Amino acid sequence: MRKCSISPRLGEDGLTTTKMPDAQPVKNPLREGLQAHRSPDPSAMVIFGASGDLTERKIVPALYYLARERLLPPGFSVIGCARTPFTHGQFREKMRHAVTEFLKLPNEESEAFVEGFGKGIFYIADNFGDAAAYEQLKTLLDRLDQERGTCGNRLFYLATPPSFFPVIIRHLGAVGLARPAPPEKSWTRIIIEKPFGRDLASARELNQTVTEVFREDQVYRIDHYLGKETVQNLLVLRFANGIFEPIWNRRYIDHVQITVAEDLGIENRGSYYEEAGLLRDMIQNHVMQLLSLVAMEPPAAFQAGAVRDEKAKVLRAVRPIPGEQVAKFTVRAQYAEGFAQGRQVPAYRSEPKVAPDSLTETYAALKLYIDNWRWADVPFYLRSGKRLAKRASEISIQFRRVPHLLFRDTPSEQIDPNLLAIHIQPDEGISLRFSAKLPGPTMQIRPVVMDFRYGESFGASPPTAYETLLLDCMLGDATLFNREDAVELSWELMDPILKRWKEDGASGLAFYEAGTWGPAEADKFIEADGRRWQRL
Ligand code: BG6
Repeated sequence: MRKCSISPRLGEDGLTTTKMPDAQPVKNPLREGLQAHRSPDPSAMVIFGASGDLTERKIVPALYYLARERLLPPGFSVIGCARTPFTHGQFREKMRHAVTEFLKLPNEESEAFVEGFGKGIFYIADNFGDAAAYEQLKTLLDRLDQERGTCGNRLFYLATPPSFFPVIIRHLGAVGLARPAPPEKSWTRIIIEKPFGRDLASARELNQTVTEVFREDQVYRIDHYLGKETVQNLLVLRFANGIFEPIWNRRYIDHVQITVAEDLGIENRGSYYEEAGLLRDMIQNHVMQLLSLVAMEPPAAFQAGAVRDEKAKVLRAVRPIPGEQVAKFTVRAQYAEGFAQGRQVPAYRSEPKVAPDSLTETYAALKLYIDNWRWADVPFYLRSGKRLAKRASEISIQFRRVPHLLFRDTPSEQIDPNLLAIHIQPDEGISLRFSAKLPGPTMQIRPVVMDFRYGESFGASPPTAYETLLLDCMLGDATLFNREDAVELSWELMDPILKRWKEDGASGLAFYEAGTWGPAEADKFIEADGRRWQRL
């Protein structure tokens, strides 16, 4: 690691030499060995949109978790930027509160936060369009380099509403913060939150704005699904085991289902959701990322370039759904009132900040084909929705039926084909369904399941996606982030669907009762192909 001096000076505003939290790191077997291999350079992280939900619920708790695990570098500092005026102290207190609540910290540890990690938190009030605030930011960053030893390494995190992305990016460029600062070899990176555009044209425009100011290798487009442990494990399952890859193709696989179901409604995000809808919010990004990992060819190496090349190839091979076929290959629906988690919940149209005649979809199902040698004619069924029966994300690989059944008393249709289910959340794990003989004098066949659970096998729950991704970014590893081409390719596939849905308006929008598995139309959609949705 590069040497960079730290002058031990205590300032009134809390600038001080580094001191990690006093609390003992939590022993987590999943993380063992990580410290030796993954130690990022000292750095400062600037969060734009620091008074928002994402900062409180995900980013800062993830940073604190990393600090507690001794995975953050000494002197690591956070500067929050947002419109609300706070002093450094007020913002620290707000973050202490957020971390305590979201990580459910005991009181002693909450105190340790103040004395350790909290001392490295700063704040600048910024309406994002004021050049003076960026000068102030630059001065503070330089000061942190001197006083906390952050060595000129900067990580900007755009967690604002997307309309602010361009203005922040341009200001960072104008004030000279987009290029690495001295000392030599220091780095500057930028993480851009979703949504990355709302269609192909806006995604292209945003890509252009970003790459006019930052080089592509400085840009980390985040999709938190890629940081989920089970999602990464998909690559390990496929490419670190010899038995799956030979059968991972059209000869053995009948079809693939990818489900991302949520029991929550849209919470307090009515205005955002009215603009976005399910397809933009979940399918264009998270679900399409899962699809590309399931379907990609083995990359030459587990390196950003190689992995992202293979993922992009999959997206290029997905057969676009032309406008006139949209009704045949997609289902869209909206939740009506119903019951969720044992209580009555309102219809989407009665949620705050939602139009009473809204046509926004809260559920979507798609059938896609990947036109290449491995996947020709294998349908990929994707579905995602809010206010479904439960929170469950799963990839189901359904294998073909046996070609001939020896057991005359059991017709082959009564034997469930093999199913490999990758449980992304909750209860992260993998299970394989196969047939077994029911004990007894007659030959009766029943499905049984072989199960692997992260929690049981490794004795701990996996870390959250943000911890993994933030650490990767600090280490300069972009493997689990989106490249410019993948984002645009995915929008290219969504655009005709969105256009047609808009033209069709109310006709074609189905409804489902909150707390169920979606509209009857989605069942008919898959049953028309002689298949059915997996029960999760
Ligand atoms: C976000 C969406 O990207 O992902 C939300 O904007 C959704 O609408 C969330 O609830 C789901 O993430 P997770 O990790 O809880 O499955």
